[in-house]
Amino acid sequence: MAVETASAPTLDLAALREDFPILRRRINGRPLVYLDNAATSQKPRQVLDTLIHFYEHSNANIHRGVHTLGAEATGAYERTRTLAADLIGAASSEEIIFTRNTTEAINLIAYTWALEALQPGDEIVVTRLEHHSNLVPWLRLAQEREAKLCVIELTPDGRLDLDSLDELLTERTKLVAVGHASNVLGTIAPVEELARRAHAVGARLLVDAAQSVPHQPVNVQELSCDFLAFSAHKMLGPTGVGVLWARQELLEAMPPFLGGGSMIGRVTLDRVTWNVLPYKLEAGTPNIADVVAFGTAIEYLQRVGMAAVRAHERELLAYALEQLADRPELELYGPTDLDQRGGVISFNVRGVHSHDVSTILDEQAIAVRAGHHCTQPLHEWLDVAGSTRASFYLYNTPADVDALVSGLDRVKEVFHRAIGRAL
Ligand code: ALA
Repeated sequence: MAVETASAPTLDLAALREDFPILRRRINGRPLVYLDNAATSQKPRQVLDTLIHFYEHSNANIHRGVHTLGAEATGAYERTRTLAADLIGAASSEEIIFTRNTTEAINLIAYTWALEALQPGDEIVVTRLEHHSNLVPWLRLAQEREAKLCVIELTPDGRLDLDSLDELLTERTKLVAVGHASNVLGTIAPVEELARRAHAVGARLLVDAAQSVPHQPVNVQELSCDFLAFSAHKMLGPTGVGVLWARQELLEAMPPFLGGGSMIGRVTLDRVTWNVLPYKLEAGTPNIADVVAFGTAIEYLQRVGMAAVRAHERELLAYALEQLADRPELELYGPTDLDQRGGVISFNVRGVHSHDVSTILDEQAIAVRAGHHCTQPLHEWLDVAGSTRASFYLYNTPADVDALVSGLDRVKEVFHRAIGRAL
C-alpha cells in the first residue's frame, strides 16, 4: 500500500500493484497491460477480501432483523454511506443514496425531481461531450415534458465552449446536466463556473462524476452543484453500486423513485407515507455486500490520496502524449492543456478501424476500448464512427505506456498499406 506524503505525492507502484491479483495475469503469453479503466477498474485484494468476509461472517438483510448478523450487516452498509459522504464532502450521510450505477442515479433525478420541476417549454442544457447516461434520460424527459434540450458545443480541441452560455442559459433553463470529466476526450468541465451561471438563472446543476470522483479530489461544496452521481466499479469497488448525492432540501422535497419495502413510513390499503432520508429513495433489498466492499475501496483510495492519484495519472498522460506525438498515422483527440484533462487518450489510426486496432493490441495483452464509448453525438462531432481509447488508473506505469506505443508500432506494421493509403 502506497501512502501520500504532503510534499511528494508519488505512488509506490510496485507495492500498490501487488494489491491487484489480476495484474499478475498473462494474456497470449504476455503480462496484462490494463488500459480500460474508464470502462471499469480492477479491484484490490482488500476489496475482494471484504466481499468474502461479509458473506462468510455477517451476511444478513439490513434495516430489518434485530439479530446480531442483521445489526452487523446494517452497520457495515451504513459505514460505506459515511465514507462516501466524507469522500465528496457531503453535508451529511443522509444525502447519499445508493443506486445500481451512475445511470440509475441520473435516471432517478430525471423521474423524480425533474419530472416535477419541468413544464412544457422549459429547457435542459447538456453538452456535446455527454455519455449517453447523461443524455438519453434528458432526451426522453424533454420529449415527455415537451421541454427543449440545448447543447453546449465544443472548442476545436474539445473543451466546452462557454461563450455560448449567455445565449443558452435563460429563465426557461431548469437544469444544466454536465459530465465532470469526459470518458472520451478527458475534458474536465469548469463545474464551479457552470454552477454559478446555472444558479444565476435559477437552474439546478447535475454533475455526472463517473469519470472524476475515481480520479481526482471532488468536493460537492466547492463545486456548488446540486446533484452528483458516480459508480463504485470505476473506483476499485464492485459492479452494481452507484451513488447519488443531492442537497438534503432537494432530496426531502423529491417524491420517491421506486415503491416497495424500506422506503415507506406507514402503509394501509388506502394510504402510504414515506420513510425518512436516505431510505425513502432506496426501495427493496439493496446490493448489500457490494456496498460494504465499496467502503473498503473508498478507504483504499483515501489512504493513497486522491491528489496523488490525479498527479500520477497526469504524469502518465503527459508521458503518453509525448510518446505518441509526431506520428502522422495517429489522430489524437482531446485538450492539449493537461490541467483541463483527465487520464484518457482517445485516438484513431488513420485508415484502420478502431476494432482492428484494439484486436492487434489485445494480441499483445493490451486492453483498451474501441467503438463510440456511449458518446455518439461526440463521435459525430469528431466525424468518425468510433475511436480507440486508453485510460489510466493509479496502478498503471510508464512501462504500460511503452507497451501501448510498441503495440501501436505493431498496428502500423500490420496495416501499413491501409495507413499509407489514408495518409
Ligand atoms: N462509461 C464507461 C466507458 O466509458 C462504460 O467505458
